[in-house]
Amino acid sequence: MCGIVGYIGTRPVLPLLVEGLRRLEYRGYDSAGVAIAIDGVLAVYKRKGKVRELESVLPVEVPGTVGIAHTRWATHGAPSDLNAHPHLDATGRIGVVHNGIIENAAELKRKLQADGVVFVSETDTEVLAHLIAGRPETSLVEAVRAALRLVKGAYGLAVIDAARPEAIVAARKGGPVVIGVGDGEMFVASDASALMGHARSVAHLDDGEVAEVRADGFTVLTLEGAETTKTTLELSGDAAGFDKGDYAHFMRKEIGEQPEAVRRTLLGRLDHRFSTAHLGGIELAAREMLDIRRVKILGCGSAYYAGTLGAHLIEQLARIPAHAEPASEFRYRNPVIEQDTLYIAVSQSGETFDTLAAIQEVKRKGGRVLGVVNSVGSTIARECGRGVYLHAGPEVAVVSTKTWTSTAVAFALLALQLGRVRDMSAGQGARLLSALSALPDQIAGIVAREAELAPIAARLAKAEHAYFLGRAAGYAVAMEGALKLKEISYMHAEAYPASELKHGPLALISAETPTLMVLPDDDLLAKNLSTIAEVRTRGGPVLAITHPGVVTEGVEASFAVPRSEPELDAILLNVPLQLVAYQVAQGLGRDIDQPRNLAKSVTVE
Ligand code: AGP
Repeated sequence: MCGIVGYIGTRPVLPLLVEGLRRLEYRGYDSAGVAIAIDGVLAVYKRKGKVRELESVLPVEVPGTVGIAHTRWATHGAPSDLNAHPHLDATGRIGVVHNGIIENAAELKRKLQADGVVFVSETDTEVLAHLIAGRPETSLVEAVRAALRLVKGAYGLAVIDAARPEAIVAARKGGPVVIGVGDGEMFVASDASALMGHARSVAHLDDGEVAEVRADGFTVLTLEGAETTKTTLELSGDAAGFDKGDYAHFMRKEIGEQPEAVRRTLLGRLDHRFSTAHLGGIELAAREMLDIRRVKILGCGSAYYAGTLGAHLIEQLARIPAHAEPASEFRYRNPVIEQDTLYIAVSQSGETFDTLAAIQEVKRKGGRVLGVVNSVGSTIARECGRGVYLHAGPEVAVVSTKTWTSTAVAFALLALQLGRVRDMSAGQGARLLSALSALPDQIAGIVAREAELAPIAARLAKAEHAYFLGRAAGYAVAMEGALKLKEISYMHAEAYPASELKHGPLALISAETPTLMVLPDDDLLAKNLSTIAEVRTRGGPVLAITHPGVVTEGVEASFAVPRSEPELDAILLNVPLQLVAYQVAQGLGRDIDQPRNLAKSVTVE
């Protein structure tokens, strides 16, 4: 999705804007641009394509110290130099960068055209530039507030006026905006990751707020003009997360970071004295945990699949009925919200619109929601107000890898904590604590054996379609494995519960359709081996991710992961599938970190 960066201070602005845009590249985009205030006019450079294309037209040096920049993910108007942001008013003084969609843009545009305004782009954003320019008699912040009162839709935006370069004005309704505080300099961004290494702390704008950001501070007002007080959060995190180092892709780097990510997810949360986990951020007393009758987990894509495994863990370990559902569908079916259900929203970015809308639906109907979120201070984390941070570190590749694993581990901790206030014995708890502590080294061992996965990747790469099958927790792994392959190889991979195969999809099994079986050595092994036999009988090639010692007769290629405790096996079974997807995509020469049509965080409906 689109990204915003803005700077006001004393340093040359251009390199800071370009660095910020590079940090935002991971979100997915199709064009980029910058606008810098210099001597009363805006110097604007925009290009369709990647930031490197934009860089090829940028001057080596530009004198300005105030500017805004954008990476665009096209919604209104095709990707092109003209449709790239920033957009200007007719005088070229007002520059606007905008994430989101102005729903009444057509109507506003007709009115402006009737007044003689000429539009140069096909975007909805250009309407904003002209509306703001229509009020030169007021301050920039007043002009922005007046313009936004006419607008319907969603936005995160930043505006500058070359004639009044003392401030950048930023506003939010639906699209995330953070204000970064530095020493005698200030930043604006759609994502705090753009500011790491520069801003000391950040303040998150809430919906309906407009900020006037000056080099020495900022003021926040509501659209109606009431002043609001913001608290700032220290901007922690490692800028190194945004550097690929010696890796060809962020995805492969992040797969390798999983042992460290899991260690951080576990840090300080294992309570050996009482053989339980301690997640302070969930703010649930033992009594409240006992009153939970049901758990409903909401997330999108990989977050939903990690939540599916989470539901399985909670049901198995805490014996509370638990179910995961795509957050994107939730609000459309007028869901029943129950007092004694614990709702859990899962999101890596903490900015996914569909998940946020699901949370708001639960809260509107009086339900309580916990967040399982990676991005500290993100919109979803703040909307939930309590929950579990993953602390997996920044995830730059569009596809989730380390955050899937850390989410699964966070759910294991939650299930353990809920289980220990219920029927789980101290012995059971201790068994799980020791298995959780072993996960980082076990994951490192799997990643170190990546070369052994080449036969599985090679077989999949030859196919046009593949099935991923698993039972119970193995089905959550199959769904995630198939999604990874789809996203980065563009291969059709479909996940099915293994027991559903004979209810229809078996008709599609042939010598050209490999089946990848998630095959743990658990009490469903015999059933899974029968499924393999059914596929083999129809001439279908079978591949397997399994455990040492499992006899995989008729299986073309397999890979055995080390055993954990049965409840946690799924976490390890998923890791080879990340590497398989990576190898297939690499062999096919795909754009692994930024697959076509996808964005890291989907901040629109
Ligand atoms: C994962 O590989 C995908 N890119 C996607 O399904 C993602 O998990 C989904 O959009 C949810 O994102 P979130 O975790 O940031 O909410």
